[in-house]
Amino acid sequence: MTAVVSPRSVRLTGWGRYAPAQVLTNADLERIVDTSDEWIVSRTGIRERRVAAAHETSASMGAIAGLRAIRTAGLEPDEIDLILVATLTPDYWMPSTAALVKEAIGNTRAAAFDVAAACSGFVYGYATASAYIGSGLARNVLVVGTELLTRFLDYGDRSTSILFGDGAGAVVLSASDEASSPTGIELTTDPQGAYMIWLPAGGSRSPASADTVARNQHKIRMEGRETYRFATRTLASTGLAAVEKAGWAQADVDLIIPHQANIRIIEAVAKGLDLPLDRFFINVDRYGNTSAASVPIALAEAVNEGRVKPGDKLVFIAFGAGFTSGAVALEWTADPSRGPIGEAAVRPEDVAIRQPVDWDSADPIPPALAEVLARPAPGRMDVSDVAPGDPPHAPRQVG
Ligand code: ACO
Repeated sequence: MTAVVSPRSVRLTGWGRYAPAQVLTNADLERIVDTSDEWIVSRTGIRERRVAAAHETSASMGAIAGLRAIRTAGLEPDEIDLILVATLTPDYWMPSTAALVKEAIGNTRAAAFDVAAACSGFVYGYATASAYIGSGLARNVLVVGTELLTRFLDYGDRSTSILFGDGAGAVVLSASDEASSPTGIELTTDPQGAYMIWLPAGGSRSPASADTVARNQHKIRMEGRETYRFATRTLASTGLAAVEKAGWAQADVDLIIPHQANIRIIEAVAKGLDLPLDRFFINVDRYGNTSAASVPIALAEAVNEGRVKPGDKLVFIAFGAGFTSGAVALEWTADPSRGPIGEAAVRPEDVAIRQPVDWDSADPIPPALAEVLARPAPGRMDVSDVAPGDPPHAPRQVG
């Protein structure tokens, strides 16, 4: 990164998303853990989530979403001079996922690093990008949120395995000579919650070993009720602080893009902010919780579905492990019709992450997931020979 420019105002100019094709429904999960569609829908609002294919990683999904955001902004990849990737499921401990994304999108000049703030990571990345542009250190910044959580779930734990899904979203923030529009950013971190959502082993405290694998310590653990309490307590106050910093009243807000963790949490935030639920964009039913990817995926869908127009006042709100929370209040200035153009310009098969030479990873798909995705669903069973002992039905005559 060599760009040094005078301080400028910051505009969101590009947005993009990517969701893997494979869908895991609540009915599929009923075949793995002791749960029911009724329980999951009533307690979380989630109906299905996406699962990345074996060849996909956080970097590959992030690169597709990132390139789409760059095309939406009408930029070339080399016009990006900083790449920030928010993820709690990086491809490797090192190099950063941002370095892999940089190569995959064909950028030769950007600085690139990862942002670790769990589900608040995208909002933290947005705040970082904003500070780089505002201070004159960067002109165009790509902020990606990407997660491959289905490989870090304990499919013996019904309270976590039903919540999460895979996907990626991204935005481009650019320096502008136009007058700055009101923006408010609020970030919080409460280490009291450090062990409420965590992944115990694999770090320096407890490096990977046969023992940590035997103890199942490489999977996400969560105290659901404590996390729920933190989320409902903090999201409204963090959002309100950002709204006040932008100089708005909360009734001025046109659309809130909340972290899609749980519909009941979103309903509680709506109540806390005294705003109707139709001012919140909701897609948790189709994706579950995609952590750092959830806000940028929801943003891209909201804009591309016509929910956002220039001049609208938007608020992004997120919370996550740490405990962290973050909110950004911004006025929308981009042309919403650019979104589908950016999406159509990038085909997933055209974006690839370079593999290491002379090295092969183990099969990345958790066995429980591989088994249920390979098995035909009950509705798709062959019913031509269902009565035991009866001769099979004669082949049906067609035509
Ligand atoms: N299916 C059926 N029953 C279940 C399931 C399930 N999938 N999961 C839990 N239960 C049972 C429990 O065992 C318990 O049974 P019991 O009363 O016999 O002991 C009962 O349902 C109630 O359990 P609770 O944990 O009290 O259920 P709750 O209503 O709190 O819902 C949930 C659980 C959905 C996890 C909720 O606490 C929640 O959403 N918490 C926040 C989670 C979250 O958003 N995490 C992401 C943070 S972001 C990040 O950074 C990763």
